[in-house]
Amino acid sequence: MSLSFEGRVVLVTGAGGGLGREYALAFAERGASVVVNDLGADTKGGGKSSAAADKVVEEIRAKGGKAVANYDSVEDGEKLIQAALDTFGRIDVVVNNAGILRDRSFARTSDLDWDLIHRVHLRGSFLVTRAAWNHMKNQKFGRIIMTASAAGIYGNFGQANYSAAKLGMLGLSNTLAIEGKKYNIYCNTIAPVAGSRLTETVMPPDLVASLKPEYVAPMVLWLCHEQCQENGGLFEVGAGWIGKLRWERSQGRTVRQKNQPMTPEAVRDQWDKICDFTDATKPNSIQESLQSVVSELSRVESEGEVGANPTAALASAASASGINPAEAVGQKIPATTFDFSHVQCILYALGVGMSTQDPDHLRFLYENHPDFGALPTFGVIPSQAAMMEGGLSSVPGLNIDLTRVLHGEQYLELFKPLPTSGKLISQATVADVLDKGSGALILLDVNTYHGDELICFNQFSVFVVGAGGFGGKRASEKAKAALPPPNRAPDAVVIDSTTKDQAALYRLSGDWNPLHIDPDFAAMGGFKAPILHGLCSFGFAARHVLKHFAANDPSRFKAIKVRFVKPVQPGQSLQTEMWKEGNRIHIQCKVKETDAVVLSGAYVDLHGAPEASPENLPQGAGLQSELVFAEIGRRIKDLGSELVKKVNAVFGWEITKDGKSSAEWTIDLKNGTGSLHKGPYSGKADVTFTVSDEDFMEVVQGKLNPQKAFFSGKLKVRGNIMLSQKLEVILKDYAKL
Ligand code: NAI
Repeated sequence: MSLSFEGRVVLVTGAGGGLGREYALAFAERGASVVVNDLGADTKGGGKSSAAADKVVEEIRAKGGKAVANYDSVEDGEKLIQAALDTFGRIDVVVNNAGILRDRSFARTSDLDWDLIHRVHLRGSFLVTRAAWNHMKNQKFGRIIMTASAAGIYGNFGQANYSAAKLGMLGLSNTLAIEGKKYNIYCNTIAPVAGSRLTETVMPPDLVASLKPEYVAPMVLWLCHEQCQENGGLFEVGAGWIGKLRWERSQGRTVRQKNQPMTPEAVRDQWDKICDFTDATKPNSIQESLQSVVSELSRVESEGEVGANPTAALASAASASGINPAEAVGQKIPATTFDFSHVQCILYALGVGMSTQDPDHLRFLYENHPDFGALPTFGVIPSQAAMMEGGLSSVPGLNIDLTRVLHGEQYLELFKPLPTSGKLISQATVADVLDKGSGALILLDVNTYHGDELICFNQFSVFVVGAGGFGGKRASEKAKAALPPPNRAPDAVVIDSTTKDQAALYRLSGDWNPLHIDPDFAAMGGFKAPILHGLCSFGFAARHVLKHFAANDPSRFKAIKVRFVKPVQPGQSLQTEMWKEGNRIHIQCKVKETDAVVLSGAYVDLHGAPEASPENLPQGAGLQSELVFAEIGRRIKDLGSELVKKVNAVFGWEITKDGKSSAEWTIDLKNGTGSLHKGPYSGKADVTFTVSDEDFMEVVQGKLNPQKAFFSGKLKVRGNIMLSQKLEVILKDYAKL
């Protein structure tokens, strides 16, 4: 289907000659009613004549087209739009094309040279477009073109005034694209190259002749057609060739360390890295641009481990390490199938220390028990094949030495209780590869399906000793973070013994690494004797939580995260310490005999505690912020649907006390009529704030400005930082509290 402009009214500024004339003719030929604007000035903006516009209108009419002339300067923007409304009754398309030149070397540029250029190009485009804006908004259709120039994009000798104005038009276009989007008003920018009276002084005559305006016009027509969904783009166009431009940003470098001043020397020393475009990113919104700055800010504050500047030795290790994140991230490992029956479920339960001596355990050990089920942490078993069978080292960009691999952390989330038999398919993807200096950290995300149904998600954090220093990033948004326990005595402690054969039993569930059974192999790894599987201690700790806080009901189990710190010898006793914080149970696991911490930063999330309503909010946590959240809960109850309409976002809050995470809240103003609950959001919150209890109160009481809190590092923000502005809607009435 050819692109028709029947019924559309198009204004082309500066259409008395050159490119503008060509646009006007082309629009008219396809049925548009065209306002042919031209002041009839000379190339420097002097003089005035109606002849140029009249001639183009005559040409259009001679071919049976509809056109009217307008002789006003674009500096009278309203008049141009009025001409369209008076003659044709509407305005659909504005092509800001009028232009002049006053080239001078910079030192000789006069005020007039500067101002005239800005008035015609930048201010003229602003005035004409503003006059059209509300009409476009009301009719929910508009297409706008800004005409920039290569001189603006790249700079050009003698065109300081012109290049500044031209790139100003790109900035204008970028914002109009955002503001107009929801009204179906799209704005794009072109940097044309064409032979015209503006270029005949700088280009050889035969080039001027061959760079025809008709090799540009079809691009403008496409961008202005209702079918075209391009918005906020920048294009170079000439001689029939069209290319799109975008921003590229280097990975960059943080040159600051926690609690230390930032210095120009640090900037100098990192200069090559700052300017290195290897693995460059292409942010395309202010959110994307800010996000990395903000996440870097919170990373510096939380980790304080920035600026580990790769030395020459490390850099050469990089090429030897065989790690290439750009190649590896996103790679999938061939899917694995896990075919099982109740036998594997029971074997696993025995492997993690369940015993018929405990009557509670029978439901996991006896297939005819009325409540027979799989332990929730059995969910790691089907997914581990992806790791076991050397899948990782076959991934392009992950040329790693499997003998140097350590299992660093594990996250498991269940989307429904596990089946007790059947066929499960696991699909693993390399989610990220981080450079931790002394090693590489690989995040492997594994989704496990039963038929079409997603049953569980695992994230393996695999540390490859000695494979760091390849110059990659040090933190990832994709990582499921370990969290420290609250700073108080645990709410519950369970001590449980492992048997001398615990590892021999656990390995039958599928982890056949000889490290856990073969004394010679263990000795080669530097261990006195074979060690227990980290995931076995993980199973112990998880069932301690399940028993203590969820009455052994597997359907209450949502997720678990642990960090493996030290090995356990089979036969040692495990001491699981637990802290209840709403639906989250923080855990730490020690070897009782040595008091060594073996699992840290761990937690289990449970389902099923009732929604936090003001009546049943936990009182004991001793946080002042609890009161405010109770009030927010009340407010959501009263005004939920209104707030959902206004805000439409999920806010996560992490409240810290004495530097440790103490409470998490989710304010959901996106789903249903809104809700508040204590604990993290089940999906990904749109924005998450981390702030201390004290600073939270200061902000709420209006004593601390949120922006100040953010820039001083007191308030950390992850996700869409722009949503912070909507917080006011939720918090504004609390100053009274
Ligand atoms: P042109 O000089 O043939 O056309 C510009 C038209 O704008 C002229 O007819 C002029 O009378 C009119 N005009 C000047 N001031 C005006 C005002 N205040 N109000 C209304 N009309 C006014 O030049 P050309 O080459 O067709 O340029 C069109 C646009 O493309 C300009 O904005 C120019 O800066 C831009 N451009 C052109 C390039 C090229 O290679 N031709 C390169 C990069 C940008």
